[in-house]
Amino acid sequence: MTWSVRRIEEGDAPLVLLLAGSLDKWFNAEGLQKMAKDLLTHEGFLAVRGERVLGFLTWEALDEEVANLSWMGVAEAEQDSGIGRALLRALVAELRTRGFQAVEVSTVADSVDYEPYVHTRRFYRASGFVDHRVDAKFFGSGDDRYDRLVLSLDLRAGREPVGGPSRPGP
Ligand SMILES: CC(C)(COP(=O)(O)OP(=O)(O)OC[C@H]1O[C@@H](n2cnc3c(N)ncnc32)[C@H](O)[C@@H]1OP(=O)(O)O)[C@@H](O)C(=O)NCCC(=O)NCCS
Repeated sequence: MTWSVRRIEEGDAPLVLLLAGSLDKWFNAEGLQKMAKDLLTHEGFLAVRGERVLGFLTWEALDEEVANLSWMGVAEAEQDSGIGRALLRALVAELRTRGFQAVEVSTVADSVDYEPYVHTRRFYRASGFVDHRVDAKFFGSGDDRYDRLVLSLDLRAGREPVGGPSRPGP
């Protein structure tokens, strides 16, 4: 069965949190708590197959020109099949329509030796995001602090940052 992308609607939060909870290599309890709070106010998109949520992406405005991609995830068994890129394309179209010039995303920096986020950084960079800055010891608490990488995607007219699917789409 094929999948499609639609806006996040009221009542979707539990489904998003259920999926995010299954991505425990990437999201810890603290992250899930913050996500639950953000889902009350952030907008976003879902990839769905029938009733099943396969992926999510949320965002918020940082100011009139710059948006922040706050959370994103694709079910592990469905990763690497173009869903993340489709969610990103929906976001780029939405932000352009609403006059934003750039979108930022924060993730775990290259300095952190943790394999799951190698894939994540590769995804953002392959989608046109460029490294913007590293904030040392931004994430975590106490002795367990680690660096944040902030990437940025230019949305201004004439640029086509997020390529189409290289494989057959949904
Ligand atoms: C990062 C994530 C959202 C990407 O979604 P996805 O559906 O797996 O990504 P796509 O299939 O759309 O991949 C898009 C591009 O990313 C790159 N990519 C994806 N998976 C890759 C892999 N295993 N190896 C190398 N490159 C890969 C490719 O360039 C791919 O483009 P292509 O299909 O044209 O080759 C998803 O993997 C995920 O949920 N990861 C865990 C949660 C996470 O990291 N969230 C972000 C927190 S900051």
